[in-house]
This record gives sequence, C-alpha cells and structure tokens, in this order.
Amino acid sequence: MASYPTYSPLDLARVLDGLHPDLRILGPEALAGRHPGEDRANLTAGVIAQPASTEAAAALIAWCRANHVAIVPQGGLSGLVGGGVSRAGEVILSSARLSRVVAIHPEEETVEVEAGVTLEALQAALAPHGLTTGIDLGSRGSATIGGMVSTNAGGILAFRNGVMRHQILGLEAVLPSGEVFSDMTRVVKVSAGPDIKQIFIGGEGTFGFVTRVVMKVEPIRPHRAVALVGVANAARALEVAARLRRHPALLLEAAEMMWPRYMRDHAALKSFDLSWRDGDTAVLLIEVSGSSAEAATALLEEELADLWEEADLKGGIVAQSFDQTRRFWDLREDSGFYFAAFPDAPSFDVSMPPSALDAYVTGLFDRLSVIRSGLDAYVYGHIADGNLHIAIAAPGHLHPDLKTQIETAVYAGITASGGSFSAEHGVGLDKRSAYLAHVDPVKQALARQIKAVLDPDMLFNPGKVPF
Ligand code: LAC
Ligand code: ZN
Repeated sequence: MASYPTYSPLDLARVLDGLHPDLRILGPEALAGRHPGEDRANLTAGVIAQPASTEAAAALIAWCRANHVAIVPQGGLSGLVGGGVSRAGEVILSSARLSRVVAIHPEEETVEVEAGVTLEALQAALAPHGLTTGIDLGSRGSATIGGMVSTNAGGILAFRNGVMRHQILGLEAVLPSGEVFSDMTRVVKVSAGPDIKQIFIGGEGTFGFVTRVVMKVEPIRPHRAVALVGVANAARALEVAARLRRHPALLLEAAEMMWPRYMRDHAALKSFDLSWRDGDTAVLLIEVSGSSAEAATALLEEELADLWEEADLKGGIVAQSFDQTRRFWDLREDSGFYFAAFPDAPSFDVSMPPSALDAYVTGLFDRLSVIRSGLDAYVYGHIADGNLHIAIAAPGHLHPDLKTQIETAVYAGITASGGSFSAEHGVGLDKRSAYLAHVDPVKQALARQIKAVLDPDMLFNPGKVPF
C-alpha cells in the first residue's frame, strides 16, 4: 500500500495555498477564535478551503485524492448531528464563497443557486419577484442550501410541499474523484433513467461536494394569521390542522405542536403569559394565509370557534400584531432553550405517521419513567408530517448506559410504525449507532457498495453516516 505523508493543519494550509486562483485557504491562525457553530468540534481540522467556483472545488478535491487527505464538507454549521465535525489532518471544504443566486426564473418558478447561499438570503433574493422557497426552517439565517440538500432538510412546510428532495430539480456536485457531476435540469418531469443525483440529497457530504442546484420556488403568500391553541393531544391538533387544510379560503402554513413541559418552561423563561390556556395542556401553533391579513384572521377565529367543542380546544389566542406573531414563533423556533438547564440533554428527531403520535408520546413518557422515576422530556415538532423533536431533561453528565437506555426508549416502535429514527437532521456522527441498528441491512450494504465506487479511499466526510 502506498504511504502518504500526514500533514499538520499548518502544513496543509501552506501547501494548499495558491492551488487555484478561486480557492481561499484559512489556516489555524485565521481560524483562531472563530465560532464553530452548533458542534464545538466542527473546526478541529484547523484548515478551511473556500472555493469560489466549481473548478476550484474540483482542484482541491483532486489534490486531496492524490495526497490521500480527507475532506469534510461544511455549510452553515447549523447541523445538529455532528455531520460537519472535523479532525486534525483533514481539510474542511466550505461552501461559504459559493454564495451566488445565479438565476431566478419567475415564470417557471425555479431558481439556480450556489450551495453556500443561506436559506434566508435566497428568500430575500426571491422576494422582489413575489416568490419564496417552498421549504422553511428556524435556522434559515445560517443553514445553507448545500447543507439543506446534504441533510435532506424538512422544516415547517414539509407537510404540504415535501422535503428538500422534492424541491430539487437539478444538482451539480464534485465527486471524490475530482470529476464534476452535472445534472442541472430545470424541469419537474425527467423520466430518463435512474435519478442518480438523489444520492447526494441526504448524502451528508459522503458521496461528493454539492456546488449548485436548481430549486423549485413558489409565490409568496404575504397575508397571514397566527394563533396558539391549547390542545389535549396530537389527535386534536391534527383535527384542527385537517379542518384548516380543507378550508377553501385559507391555506395552512404551519402546524407546530409543543407538549406541556416544553410550553411551561419556555413560556416561563420568556415571560410569556399562558393564562389564556385552559390547564397545563400542549399548545398548537397554527399559521394560515388568506386574501388579506384581516380576512385570514377573521376566518381563523371563525374556524377555531367552530372547532371549540368538536376538537375540545383548551383556550386559544390569535396574534393581533407583528410583534405578537414574532413572540409566538419564538416560543417554537428558539427551541434550544433547554440546553441552558440541561447542556448534555440527549436530543432526537424522529418521524412517524401522524396517527401514531399520541400512542408514541404516551409510551415514551412511560418508558422514560421506568428508566428513572421523574425522567422527563421536552417534546415538540412539526406534527402535520409526524416529525417530533425530543430532548431528555436529564441533569449533569449522563452515563453511557443511561444514554443507551434512553435511546432504546426513544426509538422503540419507530421503524415498525413506518417512521424514521432521523426525520430531518441527518445521521452525522451522533446518530451512527441508530443508523446501524435501524436501517435495513440490505440497504446498508448497498450504501457501502455505492460508497466504494464513488469514494474508494473513504476520503469524503469519514466516520459520518455509516462510513
Ligand atoms: C426545529 C429544528 C430543531 O424544528 O429542526 O426547531
Ligand atoms: Zn425541526
């Protein structure tokens, strides 16, 4: 076997410097003090390569292949499963300078965009055309399109529009060989053989580096109404969502649910008045759009009044101002608040058919209390598509055995119900053991065979997903 030199971060930064005119290299000095994003180990490699063109990314990748240096692709560093974690001796390949919205096609409702554009920047670029993305999520300010492709992100609108996979029409990526894979189709209909680009969507940077995509976009619906509603359980919340989905003059824009512990603690932290709520119930955040803000608000109030008895609603409040709307959404989107009290809280992102939600959540609380009496969890999520986020309210540093017991309790029955142990955050490093435990062995073997073809030296994002 050939032997290759191992490079220190400083050496790597030196040899990569000047490799391509469109390539900027940041070494350990430039990175000192830089915020690592959601995972403190994201920048451990100490070297970042920032290509400003596909050619520069390809030159970097070809060099890494020839010199057997591993690559960790990174976007906005908002990933929650350690998919961007890097180690000394590796090179971080950042999309930060692939930051152009290349072309907006308003009549076709498509956009061509480079991988490093943040979701928020893309939404801002589309707005003057009366357009927006068909996907939206809380970390829009930092999450990049490339990162969202690589994790197959979902978010708030997935119940209606599907996930990232359903938004992507075309895609360009640099393969581990240094070749450029280009399938920049701009149409919905392509029935021309297997759709190979799908492996990069949700591939978490293990099959290549996504540089550009063509995405679907849709008209902005600016006239909104937002409410918080007390609900006894997910079935009741889903009744509300289903009713609004069928309304001829309203479009459901969000149905986000927060279970009682989450609601109680977050409201207390933000001094948010919950006196309108009838008991310590879960809360559903509902957003609809209509022909005007006034019409949307009036119709939403009417529907909720109609549903009051039928869906056994436990109080409700409709936002009367932009500021109130923002405060409602902050309760849902600033969801990491519990890490202040529970820094090591194990957290999960699971999905299941929505009809299975209540039995699952009841079962989860039972299973947790068997592990340890009083063991509690923050539960919240995008209920209309069956996606729950769960964080375990366990103080202090958790013993690995306890973590394993908690994982078993959280994942119990998920696969059998037709759901997934990872709904929208990916596998990364953190959910690797869950991948090995819950993904069909034949599917795992196939993934490894594809990996062996594309990246025989295992240089792309090593250690992530199962590789
Ligand atoms: C959310 C992120 C955690 O929905 O996915 O808040
Ligand atoms: Zn989410």
